[in-house]
Amino acid sequence: MNKKEKQQALDELNAKIAADTDLPLKVAATNDVPGEGNPDADILFVGEAPGAKEDELGRPFVGAAGKFLDELIASIGLSREDIFIANLIKHRPPNNRDPLPEEIAAYVPYLERQIEIIEPKVIVTLGRYSLQYFLGDSLTISKIHGQPKRRGGRVVMPMYHPAAALYSGNLRPVLKEDFAKILK
Ligand code: URA
Repeated sequence: MNKKEKQQALDELNAKIAADTDLPLKVAATNDVPGEGNPDADILFVGEAPGAKEDELGRPFVGAAGKFLDELIASIGLSREDIFIANLIKHRPPNNRDPLPEEIAAYVPYLERQIEIIEPKVIVTLGRYSLQYFLGDSLTISKIHGQPKRRGGRVVMPMYHPAAALYSGNLRPVLKEDFAKILK
């Protein structure tokens, strides 16, 4: 698929998300937050779930964690137009609680379809849930952040969630260092 066809396929996917009344967190959400960016991106970022600001605007990573993510992306010379940003879960969990396993299972077919369409070379996981979805439940982020792994034909790069660095300032330089490895 060329870039235009990929965008069309993503638009169709977003329409399916909009119409899917079986999605468990849909009723409480204000907006779908399917993800956005370059449909032909080499790098796909996958976070956990939208928060309050994302739910309000229907866009991923537009709150405080998103500001830091923008900074990290800029630190490697890229912008949001170069990459794609999505989440495991496309609706905000009530009060930002942790997602349940059955909720993740209900949403991931949409994420898998996004991957199929975008065909990224690198998937950057942000936070524990995204890491465990791609690389397995037994992995701990503190042990494997910044270490690329193969998953099928792609590279999965585990990172701390940018929100974690807002609470724990010493993770900021760690995230910056891990980001610097993406382009390699
Ligand atoms: N945290 C996430 O994991 N995703 C967002 O879109 C915003 C905050």
